[in-house]
Parts: sequence; C-alpha cells; structure tokens
Amino acid sequence: MKIEHTRNFCIIAHIDHGKSTLADRLIDLTGAVAKREMKDQMLDSMELERERGITIKAAAATLIHKKDGKEYRLNLIDTPGHVDFTYEVTRAMASCEGAILVVDAAQGIEAQTVANMYLAMGQDLAIIPVLNKIDLQAARVDEVIEEIENVFALPHEDVIGVSAKTGLNCAAVLDAIVDKLPAPEGEPDGVLRALIFDARYDDYRGVILYVRIVDGRLKKGEKIRLIRTVATFEALEIGVMSPELTPLKELNAGDVGYIIAGIKSVQDVNIGDTVTVEKMQDKVKPLPGYKEPQAMVYSGIFPTYAGDYDQLRKGLERLRLSDSALSFVPESSEALGQGFRCGFLGLLHMEIVQERLEREEDLDIIQSAPNVNYELVMNNGEVKLIESAAEMPDPTMFTEIREPFVKVQTIVPAEFVGPIMQICTEKRGEFVNQEYLGQDRVILTYNMPLAEVIFDYHDRMKSATRGYGTMDYELMGYRAGQLVKMRLMIAGEDVDSLSMICHRDVAERRGRLLLQRLKQEIPRHLFAVALQAAIGGKIVARETIAALRKDVTAKCYGGDISRKRKLLEKQKKGKKRMKMIGNVEVPQKAFMSVLAINEDK
Ligand code: GTP
Repeated sequence: MKIEHTRNFCIIAHIDHGKSTLADRLIDLTGAVAKREMKDQMLDSMELERERGITIKAAAATLIHKKDGKEYRLNLIDTPGHVDFTYEVTRAMASCEGAILVVDAAQGIEAQTVANMYLAMGQDLAIIPVLNKIDLQAARVDEVIEEIENVFALPHEDVIGVSAKTGLNCAAVLDAIVDKLPAPEGEPDGVLRALIFDARYDDYRGVILYVRIVDGRLKKGEKIRLIRTVATFEALEIGVMSPELTPLKELNAGDVGYIIAGIKSVQDVNIGDTVTVEKMQDKVKPLPGYKEPQAMVYSGIFPTYAGDYDQLRKGLERLRLSDSALSFVPESSEALGQGFRCGFLGLLHMEIVQERLEREEDLDIIQSAPNVNYELVMNNGEVKLIESAAEMPDPTMFTEIREPFVKVQTIVPAEFVGPIMQICTEKRGEFVNQEYLGQDRVILTYNMPLAEVIFDYHDRMKSATRGYGTMDYELMGYRAGQLVKMRLMIAGEDVDSLSMICHRDVAERRGRLLLQRLKQEIPRHLFAVALQAAIGGKIVARETIAALRKDVTAKCYGGDISRKRKLLEKQKKGKKRMKMIGNVEVPQKAFMSVLAINEDK
C-alpha cells in the first residue's frame, strides 16, 4: 500500500549547478535545522568535501513540510554528482521514487546532467526539472528551458525557475515534491525489511547504518538481523537525520533513518543488505541489493614509513565501510616497500581516497600512477585478467591482449569541436556521433581506450575548451589491441615497479618523457648513469646522467659546526628515502616522478 505522507527524493545535477545550495534552502525552509545552526552545505559533512566543494558521500535528511493542512515527511537522499560516483548515485536513487533535476540557468545542460538523467530514467524515477541561478545576469532562462525540453522531453511548463542562493521560488519545489512525486509503496504492518543504502564508521558508536524502511516497523531496543552477513545486533539507537542524528522510539515503513547497533566490525555490513528483526530472517525475502561496483582504475598505495603499514591497512578497511567501491589487496614493490594495490572507480575517486587516508588517518602515503586492467587470451584459450604490468607474462604465453574501452560523451561549445576531435583521434578514439544540444553546443561521442581517458583526456579537453567542456564515460567492454609491456632500466637493471603496459604507437614518446623525468630527479653520481626504456629486447628510448666530480659537502668543512650537523641530519633523512638500484642511489622522488599522478599534462 501507499505510504501517503512520505516522499523520498534525491537531487541530481552536474557539478556546481547548485545541488547542495538547493538542499540547504529546502532544509532551511522546512525549519529542519535552527537558523543559527545552519552551516553552508549541511549535507556535505566531511571536511574534505567542504574544501573541495563537491559531494562525495551520500547522506540524507528528513524534512517536515506542511501542505493543504497535511504534514509530509520529505526524505532527501543526497547523491554525489561526479562521473566517478555513478555507482553511489544509483545506490541513492534506488531508495527514492523521484528526483529533482537541477540545471544551471547560465551553463545549461552538461555532461553529468545527461548521465545522471539517464540513470534516473533507468530507475523509473519521477523527475522535477528545476532551473537554478535565475538571479544571475548571465542566466539564459528561455534557451535552457528549451534545452531541457529538447533533450529530456520534459514539458517546459513543468520547469521551476529558482535561485537557491537567494531562496527565490524554492518553496515551489517543496510543493512540487508533494504533488508530483509518487508516495512510496510498503507494508506498514508487515515484517520489517529495511534497505541499507549507506553506512559510516563513528569512532565512539561504531557503525552507523543508513536505512530506508520498506516494510514493517523497527522499535528501539529490538534485536535486528542483517540477512546477507548473518549477524545479529541490538538496535541501541534509531532515528532520523534532520539532518543531525535525531533519536526516535520507532521507525516505520517509508521512513529513511539510521540505526546504531554497536556494530564494531566493518565486515559485518554490506551496503545493499536487508535488515529485518531477529528470528524472522527466514520468513522475509531480501530486498534487491546492489551490484558490486566494478573497479576500473588501479594504483598502489604505500606508507612512506614502513612502520605505518598496519595503520594503512586499518585506514583502508575503515574507508571501505563507507565506500564499497574501494577494493584493495596487499602488494609489495621493490621500490616502494609493502603496501596495497587498490581498485577505484576512476581518477577522482582515487584522489579522494588518497586525501582521506592522509587527512583522516594522518598517514603519509605514496601512490603509484594509475593503470587499467587487461584481459589476456592465453595459449590454452583461457581468459586471464591482469591488473598491472608486473603480472604480464612473456608474450609467447598469450595470443591476444585486450583493454577496456569506454564510450566518452563530451559536451562542448560548437567552436571547440575541431580541437576535441583531434585530441580524441590522437588518443585512439573512434568517432561515434555528433549531436546539437541547442543553438551552439554539441555532444560528441567517441569510443576510446579507458587507459587514454584516465591518462590525461580530462585535462587536455578542459584546456582545449578553455574550461567550457564537460565529459562523462561509461564502460563498453574489452577490445584487442597492440599493447606491449615497456620496461624502464637504471644502469642496465630492470626496475620492475616502473614497468607499464601501453600501446605500441605511444610507447616511444611516453618512454622518453619518463626517462627525462627520472634524469631530473636522480642525483649525479661519480660515474655516468644510463636510463633506458625497452620493449622486449629492444631499447626504445635512452638518456644519460653525466658523472659528477665535485664533493657537495666540501664547502661546509671547517665552517659553522651547527650548519654541518644540520646538513648531515638532512642527509640522513634523505637516505631513508633512497633506494639502491645496482650501485645507483635513487631517491624516492625519482620513482614518484615516473609513478606520480596527473602530471602528464
Ligand atoms: P557539488 O556538490 O560539487 O556537486 O556542487 P553542487 O551542485 O552542490 O553546487 P553548490 O551548491 O556547491 O553550488 C555551486 C556554486 O554555485 C556555489 O558557489 C553556490 O554559491 C553557487 N550557487 C548555487 N545556487 C546559486 C544560485 O541560485 N544563484 C547563484 N548566483 N549562485 C548559486
């Protein structure tokens, strides 16, 4: 039956179109938070998020709205807007019946507007189109309404123009949520079934589960059972997020709330799992959960100080609780020591994990350059998945190597179509089509190797369009290609951790670039040091570091003693970060110059 006085919705938007600001206004208008407590962008609770101004983790808030004498509970589920977090967007959407589509009146429809809309349509959500920032001088109200009508077939009279910043017309959005979005379906008197759509770890209270109650009710103090993990807990505290945690005695069908049940172990929780009451687990059918997200980008994370290894493992485990898309396995690298090989959804996801480890866990880490995974067709016909160049067997062992391909949609002003096509072609892209969005903006679709996209496509596309272009991508599958393993050598010795898989056509250029970087970072020795890049037995690039003659510390002898001591201290510290390759001292910085992230501009 319908739960009449409840609505569950999310807000979808391209980044910076004002999703968080609109959420603030709605929270403000419904008085969910006293004005003085109102912080900007209430739902972005993580410090990191606030700094970057992007929403990473889905959170929720319950708003009370009165309309025509009736009181409604509007549950706002926050969703991230970035291309890397498609999975979390979908996850949040699965708990909703409707979505508010926010489009910036000055920018118009952009790549993630389109991507998020497709996801919402895929989940059969009712859509309320909202045109934001109509207060701006640059607002192109009529044109953008026309874009929305053309691209998404949403009638122009349904579009609500607002300014989330000034609050203009935002109340109309609350009324539309009640009028246009369907009430959730559920069985209030049935056996408890609640969907875990998110979870977070709190140092004092253990795991906090965020749930949508689909059927039945949950009372404080009841014993609950997580179906998939087969674990039982007591619901010590339950309540709603308004948006701070507000304890209640009972949660009912249709509600979105939280459960604190003294869950200490991260392993006991699976996002997408169903919560029911103890002893009833065999009588209820689990709710359809979520598909495990597929990692597409891999990189190694190592502690700068070997002693931090355990702390790094614990940190990763904690992060994984609130980020089920993160995967990791132990890895040891001759250059970087003991660490973990991690799988991410994309580059931004990777950067965020790195920053959270450094900030929340207070860890110093080193991260290797990202790569994709590859499928190998072995001689016996078996298909093997490898995640790094180190795993690549001798070329005589397999008959074919395949790499992941993605469909990339780039939205650009028409004048930049030429430069973008050129970049896509250089990156082995295959033209699919070109479509006009409105008067002068174009959606360009290319099929491209994911490796090329993560390498530097975003940066090059942004600079070629003076920042106006936006992009999104989705995985299409694997394709065979001329992919080879390139090895880097220092003084004739292979450095395994610096080997990589790349396309034959770009190997030489990339090899030279990397050797030049190594050359800058490795100090001169008393002898000349050769740096080489090779494919199989063939050297494709070479650089030489000339020999050194002068003694750097000489000038300090006989000088100020404290200065000399300082210099020695510094050298000692520096030594810790040195690695011997043959008889060449290679500073960690040199490894980083090759392995570093996002510096290939
Ligand atoms: P992400 O969390 O990064 O996805 O961004 P968002 O979509 O939540 O955007 P956010 O709410 O952070 O707004 C982006 C910028 O637009 C901020 O600087 C806001 O102050 C500004 N902004 C939001 N709404 C309005 C509006 O109605 N008018 C004007 N002029 N600026 C607005």
